[in-house]
Amino acid sequence: MSSLRLPLLLLLLAPSPLQPSLLPQLDTPEVKATVARLILSALERATVFLEERLPELNLDGVVGFRVLQEQLKGIQEERAGDPLLRPLSLRVGRLAGRLVTLLHRSISYQKLSDPTYLREFQPTIQPGFWKLPHAWTRTNASMVYPTFEPEDSFSEDSSDRCLVQLLGTGPDRSLPCRLSDFCRTLMTRAGCSGYCLSHQLLYFLSARMMGCTKGLFLQSQHYMDLFCANMMDLNRRAEAAGYANPTQDIFMENIMLCGIGGFIDFYKLRWLEAILSWQKPREGCFGKPAPEDDRLSKATRYHQHFLSRVKRREKQFTDGCSAHNTAMAVGALGGFLYVLMEHPRAQGKALQSTPSLPSSS
Ligand SMILES: *[C@@H]1O[C@H](CO)[C@@H](O)[C@H](O)[C@H]1NC(C)=O
Repeated sequence: MSSLRLPLLLLLLAPSPLQPSLLPQLDTPEVKATVARLILSALERATVFLEERLPELNLDGVVGFRVLQEQLKGIQEERAGDPLLRPLSLRVGRLAGRLVTLLHRSISYQKLSDPTYLREFQPTIQPGFWKLPHAWTRTNASMVYPTFEPEDSFSEDSSDRCLVQLLGTGPDRSLPCRLSDFCRTLMTRAGCSGYCLSHQLLYFLSARMMGCTKGLFLQSQHYMDLFCANMMDLNRRAEAAGYANPTQDIFMENIMLCGIGGFIDFYKLRWLEAILSWQKPREGCFGKPAPEDDRLSKATRYHQHFLSRVKRREKQFTDGCSAHNTAMAVGALGGFLYVLMEHPRAQGKALQSTPSLPSSS
């Protein structure tokens, strides 16, 4: 990576020789402000990408920016941060304002390019849909499945149908929070991994955002505990495997979704560091690493073919930028910034050292 910010971050995060097993401390306001500035710069560059490709982006490519806008708004509203972070609030406010305008314009473009998909999922990119966590919890490792099913059993189409029923945005415009037997079975099935699992979590998270509390949704917290415990396990495995492609996208999606779900242990410093290192410095986007030779690019093409079957509406640009990757990245990074800047109570549990978590080292 040709970027200058990474060595700085590595320096800041280099473990002290006296505390080999601990993540470095983020308890000084100077260090916090430096890390917050790194995240903000990354988010500003990603927003330039959003602006430049706005007419081409579909809903899946902008939903993470709406999540980000809510996170920035949350930071502005709480105003409880350190004095050193206060100058950053201005930058946060400017970025939030730009996003409001861009997201509004994006909806006009989507009305032209994919009006049906927009109607079905528009609530998820409306202001106020995503409510930030005000209480935090952690994942429980004893809820991890003994084995995972193979991933190819996942149907994005069925999952979309269930979400549309929940949102009440189908052609019949029925009331929200509706649940068929088919969706109950699909959304509570044990053993899912990958996008199957993240969409199960998205389903219960959306139910919470919609205020669905009856029937199955009485157990929303249980299912969120279950799914995020498994998403944590999969993210740890992705990290252990060196984030081999194509795991970066689902890795960031898991952080974004479980982070909004209130699972603070997804905000690990070393995961932040990894995500920042994936941003393309020139385009500001996230996506496939630049192919180094023909053989690799053939593998990448094969891969994109595979991915396009998994994520039907993924928008892949010729420069290697991925709309979905970028959206998930900003949603994840916005959560890191939110935790860093506005939740002094939470910080002791997340971005600082986590000696009480044997499995996190
Ligand atoms: C973790 O999950 C297990 C199994 O569901 C449960 O018995 C235990 O109480 C949970 N631990 C915490 C800290 O919630």
